[in-house]
Amino acid sequence: MILEVENIVSGYGDIEILHGVSLSVSEGEIVGIIGPNGAGKSTIFRTIFGLLNLNEGDVRFLGESIVGLRPRDILNQGLAYVPQGRFTFPEMTVQENLEMSLFIKKIDTTQEISRIYSLFPVLYEKRKAKANELSGGMQQLMEMAGALLLMPRLLMLDEPSLGLAPKINTEIFNRVKKLNKEGITFLIIEQNIHALLKVAQRIYVLELGQNRFEGAAQELMTDKRLSTLYLGGE
Ligand SMILES: Nc1ncnc2c1ncn2[C@@H]1O[C@H](COP(=O)(O)OP(=O)(O)O)[C@@H](O)[C@H]1O
Ligand SMILES: [Mg+2]
Repeated sequence: MILEVENIVSGYGDIEILHGVSLSVSEGEIVGIIGPNGAGKSTIFRTIFGLLNLNEGDVRFLGESIVGLRPRDILNQGLAYVPQGRFTFPEMTVQENLEMSLFIKKIDTTQEISRIYSLFPVLYEKRKAKANELSGGMQQLMEMAGALLLMPRLLMLDEPSLGLAPKINTEIFNRVKKLNKEGITFLIIEQNIHALLKVAQRIYVLELGQNRFEGAAQELMTDKRLSTLYLGGE
């Protein structure tokens, strides 16, 4: 297992949001998390990444507990995270934004950025454009590229398709598939379930801060209650 989340309880101040959530991801998998707004999906990622205190349970990355580690230490161990919404520097160019990602990890820039440009040729074409001049989809690609510069083993994406046009969604999910083939494991929160089902091998459904379903994407489609709730009908 690359990631094991065991019975985690966490929340904000006195408000408990996650009441004992468990999930695991094997090396090489693409795993999805779905569930209604407010279910606690983003809270899971924030807790895994050390941004929120864990009240109970354990989070293990590559077999070792990462509870209590700072986000930058978690990043250094190979777990990267692109939060919901976009956290780029809007006034900086694409190239400068990518350099910022490397600055965080303190590694030499030139070679790594060339590697990323070869993976994302569209970003190379836009390298001198300011981030705020990019479309939402291109910004999302830039965020993904920034996280990939850190050479993660596991990349967690929180709603990568939020607010994007369908064509760009396809591009993002195709990219995920390709990177997965190159060895990167993914854990993805998504509202766009149809897009997620095309790439994810396994799905977790989270409701009210608890696990509600875990299984192959195919099983979700054949479960009557879940498919009605999440796939919109039969
Ligand atoms: N910073 C915060 N402070 C207090 N409550 C929060 C905060 N962020 C989220 N919450 C609450 O936690 C619950 C779960 O939120 P979230 O994890 O963002 O859900 P999801 O990502 O599944 O939509 C919601 O009820 C939300 O209002
Ligand atoms: Mg969320």
